[in-house]
Amino acid sequence: MEPEQYIRALDTIGRLSEPAKRNAIKALALPDESRILDLPCGIGSQICWFLDEYPQVSVTGADLAEEHIAFARERLQRSDKTRSCELVLADMNNLELENDSFDLIWCCDGLWPGPKDMGCPAEEPYDILDGLVRITRPGGRVAIAFWSSQKLLPGFADLEATLNATKGTMRLFHPSTNPELHFMRTPAWLRRAGLTDIEVKSFAADLCAPFDELEREGLAILFNMLWEPAEPEVSESTWEKYSSLANPESDSFILNDINYAGLLTYTMYVGTKTSC
Ligand SMILES: C[S@@+](CC[C@H](N)C(=O)[O-])C[C@H]1O[C@@H](n2cnc3c(N)ncnc32)[C@H](O)[C@@H]1O
Repeated sequence: MEPEQYIRALDTIGRLSEPAKRNAIKALALPDESRILDLPCGIGSQICWFLDEYPQVSVTGADLAEEHIAFARERLQRSDKTRSCELVLADMNNLELENDSFDLIWCCDGLWPGPKDMGCPAEEPYDILDGLVRITRPGGRVAIAFWSSQKLLPGFADLEATLNATKGTMRLFHPSTNPELHFMRTPAWLRRAGLTDIEVKSFAADLCAPFDELEREGLAILFNMLWEPAEPEVSESTWEKYSSLANPESDSFILNDINYAGLLTYTMYVGTKTSC
């Protein structure tokens, strides 16, 4: 995907999941003056949401992609939030940030283990997590959040299950054959990194018609990302049915149904660095 398309996808899909992520951020109940690292910060949306929820904190946003940092910088300038935040280019695999410096590390959709050519930062999450723990202050927390599920074809559960069972779709959730590397094993990753008091909580974002243009675009990108790769693995009739629901030109385009109601969930895993 070209950088501009990727930014557009982050923006539009990010809007769909915004309520879930905002509620996860709220559930962290951060004290005033906390220092937060948002890594990878992508295009900076969640930096804004942290500062909306906690006007007294400071946030450092870090990402490997210069284009994302540039987009985030503009967004923060536009919303007049630059006073409480800074942006840095950084590779999660090689963090040059000081030891014990953050009260919270927030890592949302950033630690999917898998091949780099799929956009994953590493095949395994362990070294990255050790790095995150190093820069967390004793008593501080590491919060790892993942997009954990979705229901997007209301009324067509069989079809959605068939599409989801394809290798093409599963590539997003099962990048490895090792079950320990599945994102739902994050509690084990956090314990292995020496964190304690592990907490897990899931948050939903409802997706209800009528949709505005940006929401429709986000859902269309999501449909494509999830299910385009399923085509060679399903029957012609399954693909025809799916295409009629997912094609904006079709009379049965599912997003035109005023009764459309779907959802996305995010799951947040939090661990605490012990104070010695
Ligand atoms: C799916 S996006 C998530 C961004 C943001 N956390 C969000 O939820 O919108 C993944 C981000 O990880 C960044 N990234 C990929 N590999 C990285 C690495 N090794 N170090 C830092 N950032 C990386 C990409 O540039 C991209 O912005």
